[in-house]
Amino acid sequence: MTQTPTATDHIDAVLHETRVLAPSAEFQARARIGRAEYERRYRQSLDDPDTFWSEVAGELHWFTPWTRVLDWQPPHARWFVGGQTNVAYNALDRQVARGLGDKLAILWEGEDGEVRRYTYAELLREVKRAANALKALGVQKGDRVTLYLPLVPEAAIAMLACARIGAVHSVVFGGFSVSALADRLNDAQSKLLITADAGQRRGALVNLKQGADEAARLTPGLERMLVVCRANCDAPMQEGRDVFWHDALAAASDEHEAEPLDSEHPLFVLYTSGSTGKPKGVLHTTGGYMVGTSLTTQTVFDLQDDDLYWCTADVGWITGHSYSVYGPLLCGASVLMYEGAPNHPDWGRFWQLVEKHRVTILYTAPTAIRSFMRQGDDLPARHDLSSLRLLGSVGEPINPEAWMWYWRVIGGERCPVVDTWWQTETGSIMLTTLPGAFPGKPGSAGLPMFGVEPAIMTHQGEELGPDDGGLLVIKRPWPSMLRTVYGDDERYRKTYWGEIEGVYFAGDGARRDRDGYYTVMGRVDDVLNVSGHRLGTMEIESALVSHPSVAEAAVVGRADDVKGECVVAFVLPQSGLTVDPKALRAHVTREIGALARPDAIYIADALPKTRSGKIMRRFLRQLAAGRAIEGDTSTLEDPGVLDRLAATAPV
Ligand code: PRX
Repeated sequence: MTQTPTATDHIDAVLHETRVLAPSAEFQARARIGRAEYERRYRQSLDDPDTFWSEVAGELHWFTPWTRVLDWQPPHARWFVGGQTNVAYNALDRQVARGLGDKLAILWEGEDGEVRRYTYAELLREVKRAANALKALGVQKGDRVTLYLPLVPEAAIAMLACARIGAVHSVVFGGFSVSALADRLNDAQSKLLITADAGQRRGALVNLKQGADEAARLTPGLERMLVVCRANCDAPMQEGRDVFWHDALAAASDEHEAEPLDSEHPLFVLYTSGSTGKPKGVLHTTGGYMVGTSLTTQTVFDLQDDDLYWCTADVGWITGHSYSVYGPLLCGASVLMYEGAPNHPDWGRFWQLVEKHRVTILYTAPTAIRSFMRQGDDLPARHDLSSLRLLGSVGEPINPEAWMWYWRVIGGERCPVVDTWWQTETGSIMLTTLPGAFPGKPGSAGLPMFGVEPAIMTHQGEELGPDDGGLLVIKRPWPSMLRTVYGDDERYRKTYWGEIEGVYFAGDGARRDRDGYYTVMGRVDDVLNVSGHRLGTMEIESALVSHPSVAEAAVVGRADDVKGECVVAFVLPQSGLTVDPKALRAHVTREIGALARPDAIYIADALPKTRSGKIMRRFLRQLAAGRAIEGDTSTLEDPGVLDRLAATAPV
């Protein structure tokens, strides 16, 4: 067993990391972008952004050309102003038109081993049918459509069908609970919900339709439900409201012209956790998102015609949107999608998939890499991983040990590793090492992508130099940036552009080394990153206090050697009641989802508060990590509370 590293250990490990792993000569020779090319184009993207972005956007199809590249009225940006385009058209019709109709677009494998293949022409036909089916169900341009699906091809087809008609999709991860789904349905005022009878997870069926039905009861505005049949089609259907996906598509024509949409037409809303309040709907629009995701997919993953590209993220997260669906299809790539768990039937499943399908590019999360690492080197060694040529990491800081293991054991010391930093809000990759241009440094994300101008600042907006830790900010708008928080523009202004005047505040702490590489240390706000997924401490606290036995709750993160960070809760029972940890964990799962379930619960008789009533989370974090209390405790109303908590065993 390795010792649980603390956040400080991680930072120390990165700071003392001196290894530099350069791409092989062979990789560099074939790479799309070398160092000189990066430097030239990066310079141009900052000095002459109009020319740079016009060239990039010009490679895509526009029904009407834009008249202005950027209209920046801080903090609101409009990109490719006046242009009309369609993301689904660019991802499919354009590929067929340039002769890729017979090329494999999606190769899907279910957890049970079922395989389905779609060429670009086949995928286009399905998306056209689905677009007509959505129209027949009354979905109009601008309407919101929520997806609550397992990772099946229909998820991508539904997203593209929405994009094709100008409907705005909101994908809710299938692991989220009924109340999380209902909140998101209501916030987006969705008319239609697309779900499935069930999903497969670790050999069991997860009944999504039942969850969808319960959420629908809490969602008065919802009119229709489309149900994909993934299991046995025996889901109860409500007459007049529910239709099976296969029936709706069978009745629909496969003739459909993509709708020309304004470049700033909303493409999707994706909910993500912030430090306060309920999860916010991050809004992305058409033109800029399309340009940002296609450029980064092509360059960061160095896409070549014969690649089989696999991003393991579920479409419920931004990584699944940008790099399982939109980015790679916009580049005409062949994409592998795998429905199930990485450890079903055992921890060799990913390696078996790589071997069987000859995957060349693999993009996954540090949490998965650390889980594989724990299983030892022999599982991957049983499989032929020689098809791999490039590895990517995303979602949370990767510790140097995991980076080196990925490089050595999975990549056979042959494949560059690109650690990519970005966010739901940024839409596409912001920091990384382009694989043919720069060596990787374990633990450091790397350099800015084209058009991205980052800096490290203090809270007061003072820019810091190399090696100083501070706040990561972006100094100018970029095409795939979020446009607003759905229905709450004030929150958008305040959260992202109001924290430090005039710059985008990412919420992460970082430092830049003398080579210009950025190392992202993690969140500086009350957002946790559990297995690469974002959760707000307040969100979990509200779930805890909504249980009748809990009077007050405080949640902090604790470093975890697999999940990166895990949830630790401190709860104060309602007077006269006892807290049953099992029931409380089940309650949090019901309120948010299994991801948010606390790993440790401290049942407390008081929480450490200042005289003004503010909970001192700093001390709770130290307690949760099993560390001695450091810092000034004199402002606490009851300093004895820390000793009592330290003597309490978590349950
Ligand atoms: O803290 C950073 C971390 O994940 C946050 C964004 O989470 P989300 O919006 O869910 O998007 C995840 C997938 C892009 C960031 O604020 N993060 C993401 N990638 C990295 C990272 N931290 C360090 N290194 C990364 N490569």
